[in-house]
Amino acid sequence: MNEPLLLALETSCDETAAAVLRGTKELLGSSIASQASIHAAYGGVVPEVASRNHLAHLQAVVAEALAQAGLTLNVMDAFAATTGPGLASALLVGASAAKGYALALNRPFLAINHIEGHLLSPFFGRREIPSALGLVVSGGHTLLVDIITAGHYRLLGRTLDDAAGEAFDKVAKLLDLGYPGGPAVEAEARCGDSTRFPFPRGMKNSGNFYFSFSGLKTSVKYLLPKISSADRPDVCAGFQEAIVDVLVHKAVQAAKENRRDLIAVSGGVSLNARLREALSAAAYDAGMAVIFAEPTLCTDNAAMIAYAAAQARLRDVSSSLAEDIAPSLTASLFENA
Ligand code: KG4
Ligand code: ZN
Repeated sequence: MNEPLLLALETSCDETAAAVLRGTKELLGSSIASQASIHAAYGGVVPEVASRNHLAHLQAVVAEALAQAGLTLNVMDAFAATTGPGLASALLVGASAAKGYALALNRPFLAINHIEGHLLSPFFGRREIPSALGLVVSGGHTLLVDIITAGHYRLLGRTLDDAAGEAFDKVAKLLDLGYPGGPAVEAEARCGDSTRFPFPRGMKNSGNFYFSFSGLKTSVKYLLPKISSADRPDVCAGFQEAIVDVLVHKAVQAAKENRRDLIAVSGGVSLNARLREALSAAAYDAGMAVIFAEPTLCTDNAAMIAYAAAQARLRDVSSSLAEDIAPSLTASLFENA
């Protein structure tokens, strides 16, 4: 028997994305329209601009994903969309469209948590999700999660202020490096000396799994009047090292304390080569394995939402068409939250 076909939509922030997945493995189509260049002029995502662009581009993105798959909407067995966390007006666009398809074709609808999409993305393709320590580092979130099994997660800690990617974006803005800031800061850091500016490691030794990155951003801000553009590589390298140092320390510690020997890393910041290198080395020293999401699955995309939805279908989970969006993280993803 053929594995079920699923169409998933992602519109939680500034990417309009659609994906077609067969079973848990076969990504038949994946299309993303990024609005990054539109928001770049503002130095960050403007919610109303984002939702209006989702509305304008969603149909074309869905058509593109279906065309790649060589399939039509009416052969889909289920429809999924990110319903939170994210920008409320942006989430409504994808969720309403997926509900409309489900209603018109009398198929199940699945409301998917964006964090779960990231969290499971390192396992994309696998039918079974192993127990692991999940580190989600994106523009909106920095979380340490105990992945007990698919659908069962415990929140261990998260950022109390800026997310790791947000800190990269804000520092890039301070240094005039453009948006999104992560890739620009990483490129600038490549020829910098990471020891010249010893930036603070906020909450590194706090004894818990919470993070704080806003002090780090403020340190960069106070340094600005004292430096020239020639110092930028050293500032970027020092800043990047400070973030990586805290993330690596806490991820390994959290894995140890929760007796996990696998660390699964996801989200846009997991594209960072220095983070990949430092975490791989620290995990190796601690006798743990580390896996990263595939680069195309790190930043926002609908394939990871489709995969999380496929995992939910394996557990016979579906959602009501009356399901609301949940813009904040308090959605019922974590058993202990
Ligand atoms: O996962 P994502 O699309 O965002 C949210 O879901 O919130 O990731 C985007 C974030 C941005 O903050 C971007 O600056 C950061 O990921 N990012 C990076 C790198 N590439 C993207 N941060 C550090 N180094 C990178 N190479
Ligand atoms: Zn995301």
